Amino acid sequence: MATARQTFVTVLLYSLCCVTFAVILRTTDKDVWANEFESIELSCLIESISTNNPRIEWKKIKNGVPSYVYFQNKISGDLENRALLKEPANLLILNVSRSDSAMYRCEVAAIDDQKPFDEILISLAVRVKPVVPRCSVPNSVTAGSSTELRCMESEGYPLSHYQWFRNNEELPEDPKTSIRFYNSSYVTNAETGSLKFRIVRKEDAGEYYCQARNDAGYAKCSPQLMEVYDFDIGMMLLKIVAGVIAFILLTVGLCVAQKHGYCSCRDHTENDYKVPQYDSGKDCVSADEGHFRHKSSFVI
Ligand SMILES: *[C@@H]1O[C@H](CO)[C@@H](O)[C@H](O)[C@H]1NC(C)=O
Ligand SMILES: *[C@@H]1O[C@H](CO)[C@@H](O)[C@H](O)[C@H]1NC(C)=O
Repeated sequence: MATARQTFVTVLLYSLCCVTFAVILRTTDKDVWANEFESIELSCLIESISTNNPRIEWKKIKNGVPSYVYFQNKISGDLENRALLKEPANLLILNVSRSDSAMYRCEVAAIDDQKPFDEILISLAVRVKPVVPRCSVPNSVTAGSSTELRCMESEGYPLSHYQWFRNNEELPEDPKTSIRFYNSSYVTNAETGSLKFRIVRKEDAGEYYCQARNDAGYAKCSPQLMEVYDFDIGMMLLKIVAGVIAFILLTVGLCVAQKHGYCSCRDHTENDYKVPQYDSGKDCVSADEGHFRHKSSFVI
């Protein structure tokens, strides 16, 4: 009888004040951003609990693999000496590194509560400043041709956006929006860092540098000079004519050399062939009347 009443009272209390008998967690931020080398606190607030010494654990889940961060009242794993637990169950990470980007799960087990367990998942993304970008600027371009300047850096997180400067002046994304760059034919791409000139003009010459920027900061490469040369028709024709003359001279020279070589070779074989023929002829002649006759007539 007494047990039945006790059970009844317990059930009544549970149904009336279930909140008091359940552990419920809350966080102020489920998607946390932190700058690298700074500290960040992941909040795990206990809304309600009736157990005195709940078991608190933190796990880090990276690529689906969980590992302990706070376990048996100790910080463990790669956060050891870099994190601490703060009341009620917050995790304070000091000197956040880029490898800390992961999901973190706060788990609280309260055995004396009717609902004895709750957990909360927090995503931590660590912002990383861009490093000095690699910039490629052609040092000389012919006016009227097209060219591309490139800028790239791969450390920054979130991914860097790129901005080009000429003589310390920012190039607007669209040249048509600026009086100074109005006649320029460039196209910028802030995501890839490319600066493409469809037709380079003399006025596009200058010292160019690029800046990589994200939420964590920015970095820029040192300025590099791009010179623009006139498209000189006279000079171009002169070069073409010189080229053609050089080609003709070379061809003629080669032909002559080859012909000479071929002829001297044929002369030689002809000589070689003729000599014995001539000799045999001579022999023949000497044996023949001509020479003989000469001789004989001389004798006569
Ligand atoms: C923070 O961590 C980095 C390595 O991730 C280390 O080089 C640096 O010295 C640390 N800074 C402090 C203040 O502990
Ligand atoms: C752009 O070109 C037009 C026409 O050639 C010229 O009148 C104007 O001054 C140029 N603007 C700049 C900024 O060079």
